Amino acid sequence: MHNIKKITEDLFWVGVNDRRLAMFEGVYSVPKGVSYNSYLLLDEKTVLFDTVDKAVHFQFIKNLTFALKGKKIDYLVVHHMEPDHSAGICDLLELYPELTIVCNGKSKKLIEQFNEVDISSRVKIVSEGDVLGTGKHHLKFYMAPMVHWPEVMVTYDTTDDILFSADAFGCFGALNGAIFADEVDFSRDYMDEARRYYTNIVGKYGPQVKSLLGKVANAQIKMICPLHGFVWRKNLQSILSKYQLWCNYEPEEKGVMIAYASVYGNTENAAEILSSNLRDKGIKTVMFDVSVTPASEIIAAAFQYSHLVFASTTYNAGIFITMEALINDLVAHNIQNRTVAIIENGSWAATSGGLIGEKLSQCKNMTILDQRLTLSSSLKSDQLIEITSIVNQLAETLGETVFDDRCVEDSSDKKELDMSTLFKLSYGLFVLSARHEEKDNGCITNTLVQATHSPPRITVIVNKTNLTHDMIVSSRAFNVSVLTESTPFSTFERFGFHSGRDTDKFSKGDGTRRTCNGIPYLTENINGVISGEVIDVVDVGTHSIFVADITEAFTLSKEPSVTYQYYFDHIKPKPEPPMEVKKGYVCKICGYIYEGDKLPSDFICPICKHGVVDFEKIR
Ligand code: FEO
Repeated sequence: MHNIKKITEDLFWVGVNDRRLAMFEGVYSVPKGVSYNSYLLLDEKTVLFDTVDKAVHFQFIKNLTFALKGKKIDYLVVHHMEPDHSAGICDLLELYPELTIVCNGKSKKLIEQFNEVDISSRVKIVSEGDVLGTGKHHLKFYMAPMVHWPEVMVTYDTTDDILFSADAFGCFGALNGAIFADEVDFSRDYMDEARRYYTNIVGKYGPQVKSLLGKVANAQIKMICPLHGFVWRKNLQSILSKYQLWCNYEPEEKGVMIAYASVYGNTENAAEILSSNLRDKGIKTVMFDVSVTPASEIIAAAFQYSHLVFASTTYNAGIFITMEALINDLVAHNIQNRTVAIIENGSWAATSGGLIGEKLSQCKNMTILDQRLTLSSSLKSDQLIEITSIVNQLAETLGETVFDDRCVEDSSDKKELDMSTLFKLSYGLFVLSARHEEKDNGCITNTLVQATHSPPRITVIVNKTNLTHDMIVSSRAFNVSVLTESTPFSTFERFGFHSGRDTDKFSKGDGTRRTCNGIPYLTENINGVISGEVIDVVDVGTHSIFVADITEAFTLSKEPSVTYQYYFDHIKPKPEPPMEVKKGYVCKICGYIYEGDKLPSDFICPICKHGVVDFEKIR
């Protein structure tokens, strides 16, 4: 039974998928299969663009026969003579006696080479820029030597602006019922295979691909029909932009591809630790065991990432077998413009690193870091500093902006909750004061923000365990003293490290004054005062959010307000190491030490009232 796809009113896909092929070209695993694309144009003259591999020829003939609906084939355009696209040529010459082959001189030679046949009487030779009219359509031919063989050419249908691109823009993977790239999630499900296809099949020929892109740059291409993979009719720029990077050997991503060859796991261990340290710096890494992962995947990753690390044990006084094959492959594929770090291992004579470096030095514009880590059987603790040094060199050459892939995908099961991210928020620091039943009190807060300008409204978030919280709940009013950078640590101690239930915080504060609401404010080391009248209280569990109208506000100086970061950097004394404590947790805010093996998850610092996220284990 035929299985064809309509592409335009008069263009049909008559190709076939193959999911039984284990190794494409005998080298590249194709676990998702592969498609062999052939296209039939039904114009006044019928034109077939390429045939398919012999493994799927039977189905191809069924498809073609059905699509023709009894018509003959006038022209067979041969873009590429590799047998996965040309196996049907001789059969078609017999089946369709009127058929003329349209190809260039190199293809004619290869057709006769592969098939021991003279096609001189059945061929129309075309050259660069020649145009073939088929009725409504006009087909313009461009030569594309070495994309991927020397005879390759492409056809541009100037009527419908369709580029028949031969191997260019191809992709591994069967089509699974779809024909257009926009029918699938291409970037998620197929881009890796498109990259693996490009880098391994034509990666070596970047300048030739670039030349082809230049030739068709001015064409208003609306559709690309490659010999493998999906037809592109939308968002062509997404694949064209990748080709621009790939053909120039420019990485797609800043990150580190680590490939290691390890016999007993010791070289792997060093690679793992290196990768872990890179991740700690927020640098994206991918890792491959070259004895397990097919080289084609690693080559694709080497084209994808900006930085490469090769870690190999020494074997027969040289590079380990699978690593040597990979390095040779990368050199053959013309890898360029990468920064490389090398780890070598050898129990008596480590040579692999130097040899890897020599081979990669043949490639253009490769920066091989001077520092090479040499292991004697295994990584030793005193070599961690060398790992750190390599990590730092990689980080420096990656530039200031480092990347990782945590936010690339939107799937909820990959969400993480790193509370330390909240430390990136900037805050001010304030004394929040209140008065209730003749008692004054105050605490340090960093959670005051302006909510609205009109009406002038602020919010402040207060821990329910604070006395100030309860006083505001009762009195519905508070003051905010905006602290400046000259605020001494003693002010933070006085208002932040003690509870108003045990001490009178304002009794030591000579010079305090009151606003119209009767609540005190500080007079030293502040640059402004704001009074609030609570209009709403929102319960958020451990804390309450007070929403307040501003009833009074005035400035006192031009000195900069202190920020939370400034406080940590310039005001808070650096904590002394807790010498006498063997086990426990220290509060990063006030230095309080909790002694014990395990910090209860609901523990609140008795001094500063911060929760467990602000404690760190004493080591
Ligand atoms: Fe699928 Fe170079 O051919």
